[in-house]
Amino acid sequence: MNILLIGLGGMGKVHYANASDIDGFNIVGVVGKGDFDRKEAEKRALPFFSGIDEALKAFPDIDAVDITTPTFLHKDYALEAISRNLDVICEKPLALSTSDASQIFMAAEEKGRRVYCAQVLRYTKEYSPIRKTVESGKYGAVVDAVFSRMSAYPEWATGSWLSDKSKSGLVPFDLHIHDLDIIVSSFGKPLGVSSSESTKCGDYWSFCYDYGSFKVHAEAGWIKAPIPFSATYRIIFERGVLTYDGSFLKMYEEGGEVVNYDISYDKIISTGINVPPTGWYYEELKEILSLLSEKKESNVKYSEILDVLGILEKF
Ligand SMILES: NC(=O)c1ccc[n+]([C@@H]2O[C@H](COP(=O)([O-])OP(=O)(O)OC[C@H]3O[C@@H](n4cnc5c(N)ncnc54)[C@H](O)[C@@H]3O)[C@@H](O)[C@H]2O)c1
Repeated sequence: MNILLIGLGGMGKVHYANASDIDGFNIVGVVGKGDFDRKEAEKRALPFFSGIDEALKAFPDIDAVDITTPTFLHKDYALEAISRNLDVICEKPLALSTSDASQIFMAAEEKGRRVYCAQVLRYTKEYSPIRKTVESGKYGAVVDAVFSRMSAYPEWATGSWLSDKSKSGLVPFDLHIHDLDIIVSSFGKPLGVSSSESTKCGDYWSFCYDYGSFKVHAEAGWIKAPIPFSATYRIIFERGVLTYDGSFLKMYEEGGEVVNYDISYDKIISTGINVPPTGWYYEELKEILSLLSEKKESNVKYSEILDVLGILEKF
């Protein structure tokens, strides 16, 4: 498949590095902004374009765009790509509001195009067992769940868009969205939502999702101290506790058995961002490419994206 990469900053480079290892994920060029992106494209021997139409003139057989620009630009690039009959891969968050995301989905529907939102945790061995365990019912009902996602204050993004709420949505839209996507796709849409924020240490958020018979607690923060990136969870079921501590995924079963999950990856690729080398993005892009080439819908459902954005809009 011929893919036009849009943006070549932190995530653009991650997508490029991973795509280079995936047979058939052919990045034909880059749409970027200014000399910085142009030079980064040159370093990778990639043709550089200032827009989608310019790229289409050079490569009329582009199948899809892969949008890795700052978040506030996702909607316009997605709509433009769809209007040119291209499918869309887009970094999370797809958009900064439900109404923007709905516009993208309606345009895609009209043109018969597909939208693949890169919610990377869906493709990981660390997080995908949550939904499977809930759905199987093997360990009974969920009793309680806790998710955490913490990072040093981000300094890596280009310009100041990440610290501008109207452009990134800050911690809820940029960081917590990873866990919220897993929460909503595993447990459904919560009945109630509450949150609190402290800006004393950076930007620290605490969330509570009410599911009636149980609650899901979550924290996410950009902290003004050099803490390493961490992402963990713990889910208590009636007959077992599933824990991921950032290194190991285990199910502690009632009765004393401990199940150790295999969370190793065949391919580990450096990210260059504040995420350690990982197989996550490789697995994600490989699966998206397979769906794209078979003209299949994304397994990140549009309704789930709208539910997640609808919750984030409240914060
Ligand atoms: N899935 C993940 O784990 C993950 C991690 C980090 C960021 N992200 C997401 O990826 C997106 C990009 O984040 P980033 O950290 O790579 O940002 P970044 O600032 O490092 O990179 C943005 C890139 O887009 C380019 N750009 C800016 N304006 C443009 C325009 N008008 N047209 C084309 N290109 C333009 C910039 O020059 C740069 O190359 C965000 O939506 C963010 O939420 C996802």
